[in-house]
Amino acid sequence: MSGRPVPSRRTVLRTAALTPVAGIGLAACSPGDDGAAPATPTAPVDLGVDGEVAKGATKLHRDQNVVVSRAQDGSLKAFSTVCTHAGCPIKKLEGTKLVCPCHGSEFDARTGEVLHAPADVPLVQLPVEVKQGRIIVSPGT
Ligand code: FES
Repeated sequence: MSGRPVPSRRTVLRTAALTPVAGIGLAACSPGDDGAAPATPTAPVDLGVDGEVAKGATKLHRDQNVVVSRAQDGSLKAFSTVCTHAGCPIKKLEGTKLVCPCHGSEFDARTGEVLHAPADVPLVQLPVEVKQGRIIVSPGT
């Protein structure tokens, strides 16, 4: 005998159950704060008074995962801010650039285009209209 105790099957199983699994603790890379996948609107959502988004302005609605911008001609565009790389909600807007916290992808909030990888698919555009002076964004198709 070597003098070293041989672990019982129960000890091995208990140790395995308590050993952290790689990947746990990477909360910053999880899609949603509550573990659920982030969602864009599933029904039309009121994003406030039309006048809140001036020409050339961009506004991020973090709770709804939507960004709205108004071009110089007055037209509105809206995009889902669920990252097309791995589904993280994008909560950071720097000027007109959306920055994903998970792996650093960047998107143009006015066009949805990818500015920086790893994402290689533009953000999903959402229908947007003004009804009775309010900005209404509808679910994408
Ligand atoms: Fe990977 Fe956004 S989820 S960069």
